[in-house]
Amino acid sequence: MVHKTVGWIALLLIAMAPIYGLAWMVLSLAGKISQADHLFLIILVFWAGYAYLRWVKPPVDHLFQRRAYSRSKVLKQLGEDMCNLQATSDVANQLLTAIANALYPERISIFLKWESSDDEATNPPKTGVAWRKFEYYRGKVTTGKALVPFADPAIQRLVEIGSAVEVSQIGSDEQFEGVRKEAEAYFNERHIQVCLVLLRKESLIGMIHLEEKRTLQPYSRGDLEFLEELRVSAMVGLSNALLFEKVDLQRQALATSQEQLRLLGERLAQVKEEESARIARELHDELGQLLTSLKIDASLLERRLEQDANANPESVERAGTIAEVADRSIGTVQRITKELRPSMLDGIGLVPTIEWMVSEFVKRTPIEVAFDGHIQSPDLDRSLATAVYRIIQESLTNVARHAKATKVSIALSEKQRVICAVIADNGVGITEHQLRHHDSIGILGMTERARPFGGIVTVKGNPGKGTTVALNIPIQTQR
Ligand SMILES: Nc1ncnc2c1ncn2[C@@H]1O[C@H](COP(=O)(O)OP(=O)(O)OP(=O)(O)O)[C@@H](O)[C@H]1O
Ligand SMILES: [Mg+2]
Repeated sequence: MVHKTVGWIALLLIAMAPIYGLAWMVLSLAGKISQADHLFLIILVFWAGYAYLRWVKPPVDHLFQRRAYSRSKVLKQLGEDMCNLQATSDVANQLLTAIANALYPERISIFLKWESSDDEATNPPKTGVAWRKFEYYRGKVTTGKALVPFADPAIQRLVEIGSAVEVSQIGSDEQFEGVRKEAEAYFNERHIQVCLVLLRKESLIGMIHLEEKRTLQPYSRGDLEFLEELRVSAMVGLSNALLFEKVDLQRQALATSQEQLRLLGERLAQVKEEESARIARELHDELGQLLTSLKIDASLLERRLEQDANANPESVERAGTIAEVADRSIGTVQRITKELRPSMLDGIGLVPTIEWMVSEFVKRTPIEVAFDGHIQSPDLDRSLATAVYRIIQESLTNVARHAKATKVSIALSEKQRVICAVIADNGVGITEHQLRHHDSIGILGMTERARPFGGIVTVKGNPGKGTTVALNIPIQTQR
């Protein structure tokens, strides 16, 4: 940027040197020139250069360059650009540049509807709605917002006409019958020379204004034909860009809701874990204590009755049974407590805890289980170990509940700091439809438990041959 400015200044100095020399010669001929005259001359020459670029060049371009543009070349290039560009701002920029280079208007404005305000049909705007505005003025493009007065009858008529309209048409064209005054007011207030409406399925998506405070050269029939062709390209380019924008917005919304769903899943797993721990505590502290005192009392009663010679033998037997049932109940509570809160994970580690789970499973079901577990890392994070434990637990529960299997194998291993678990049964095999079943949360929960650690769970079913659940969970990416 800086070297470009320096370059321009150098070029200007070289260009100004002969002018300056000429002026110096004239002044010298008129008499001696002083130091102050030199300074005055330099300022004058620079001012003349600035004035030329600022005030003389644009109207000169406007008058002479406009005649020189190649309509077909500009339109061909624009057509190609409209196919390639996706962002609305890029399309608008390209349109502004094409119009500016071809017709040199003082100012060009493109108004464009926000895709998010697409609810026009259900909620028609009353007075005006803020649209995006892209403006070209003195070689620069600026973006902003502008209020478009929809309800203005002039705009509605322009939409009905649906082609490029030049200001001089309004006075004589019968298409403006009934709204001539409003249309004149609309054009004059904004210094519009030509207005192009951009439509999609006959509804307004944008407008282009070519504006000039003083008209140096009226727009010819050729200019208007050019603008009409440009309008068609603009409608295609901008419609596409707006659609891309809409799809992008929807994609973003989808990504956000997927992220929320993921967080919800994680939270669900966490809440489930906390709730299980709470129930386990209650069971252990409350029910466990009560059953223990019941057992002690029943045993005491049994012993007393045994010592009492008059005691009914049936009562002695009943007291013994009560003590035995209380004892069995204590065992059950202990097992449920362990299942709910595998505190063994902290004590003896993942593999022995799973061995215990398998032994409990075998006691309660007729299914044969083959377990093979080897984990080298001694530093397994508690939450990671819990996730692996719960995923295997859910897989085994599913085998017992749904698989109608006779055998299940569990292989737990660690390779390059990745824990792999494969649970395979020889049952009926899960179907694609069951995999996508949304009422149940077992399989979904397995995926959600693995995800926070960067783990993946895949479930595959082979009809009549069984189901395989595979878990891969890296150790290093623990939170
Ligand atoms: N090992 C398996 N063999 C055959 N079908 C299975 C197996 N595991 C799961 N399924 C099928 O997939 C479905 C979804 O399993 P998922 O664990 O998600 O839910 P669920 O066990 O029915 O309920 P829950 O939410 O209590 O776990 C099951 O209803 C079952 O039909
Ligand atoms: Mg399940």
